[in-house]
Amino acid sequence: QAPVDLAIGTAAWGEQMLTDYDPAAPTEFQDVLSRQFSSVTPENDMKWDAVHPAPDVYDFASADAVVAFAKANHQKVRGHTLLWHSQNPAWVTEASGTWTCDQAKDVLEDHIRTVVGHFKGEIYEWDVANEIFKDTWDAGGVSLRTDRNPFLKACADDPVGLLADAFTWAHEADPDAVLFLNDYNAEGINEKTDAYYDLAQQLLDRGAPLGGFGAQAHLSLLYGFDASLQANLERFAALGLKVAITEADVRIPLLDGETEPTAEQVATQTERYQALLQACLNVTACSSFTVWGFSDAHSWVPDVFPGEGWATISDEDYTPKPAFDALLTSLKDA
Ligand code: G3I
Repeated sequence: QAPVDLAIGTAAWGEQMLTDYDPAAPTEFQDVLSRQFSSVTPENDMKWDAVHPAPDVYDFASADAVVAFAKANHQKVRGHTLLWHSQNPAWVTEASGTWTCDQAKDVLEDHIRTVVGHFKGEIYEWDVANEIFKDTWDAGGVSLRTDRNPFLKACADDPVGLLADAFTWAHEADPDAVLFLNDYNAEGINEKTDAYYDLAQQLLDRGAPLGGFGAQAHLSLLYGFDASLQANLERFAALGLKVAITEADVRIPLLDGETEPTAEQVATQTERYQALLQACLNVTACSSFTVWGFSDAHSWVPDVFPGEGWATISDEDYTPKPAFDALLTSLKDA
């Protein structure tokens, strides 16, 4: 049975909405965003470096603009993210090497209670813990990032206890938000998602208010598609969790010097986007399907993966690609 009220979302950059959003005269970006999506994820505006730049300084200006835009357009907001090894401000990165676990928990508790409390009632899903497991190819293989995540590092003796506390603090600050674990390379059934499946059970056994598992779905045509995605989502759903596709994009290795993909590459990209959405539509517990930006004009991919691009569902002029139309068709047929 298809999910009842599946939210269809996109990441968005606060600065595009900070420019004095006027519903009567929206920019093209704002117009497409407001008309095509029922959910928005601030791409960077709720991360530590944006909202908590100094120990006693919180700055919600750009995040508030995203929430205000969403509210004006009757959209829901996914909060992203409270605990991660990246985009932490210097004061966290520098101080964390000296923290005891109790000191790290004091800092993290203050952050979570303040940030989640600030947006109380405005956020339907929070990515509480993001990318907390290493990949199979990392040193030590799949294990918790007690090497790079400053809080897991300080609490390396009991990282699951820290995680359980983080979910508890977030739940106490906003009982209505569904609280997610979220990661990339976490689409199919593999060593990494096995580790998440075990962690989810440990957290639930501790009574931690874990509410969801998010597969980011940052795909590349350099690799295959893992058809065990639906089975993976189903096993987390069987734990009583919501599941979500949280950051979907399908990057394409562009031939030397080319800026446009081949027809075959476009067809494969379309199939991948459709497969991601269909897996979500086939799992009743799937609560949201979010693309990580809806236009190639605002995609993180080219900056990070040289030679790859064309990853989103519309081009730089916001002209829908075949993938956009295919997603729309799948939703209409659902
Ligand atoms: O805001 C500064 C700006 O003041 C400065 O002039 C500029 C110079 O480099 O940097 C700007 O910050 C950039 C930030 O995006 C905001 O645009 C950072 O350099 C840049 O590294 C950062 O990239 C973001 C990336 O996370 C950081 O890891 C991407 O936009 C964002 O799409 C990406 O999103 C992540 C998810 O949060 C987690 N899952 C993976 C996904 C892709 O990496």
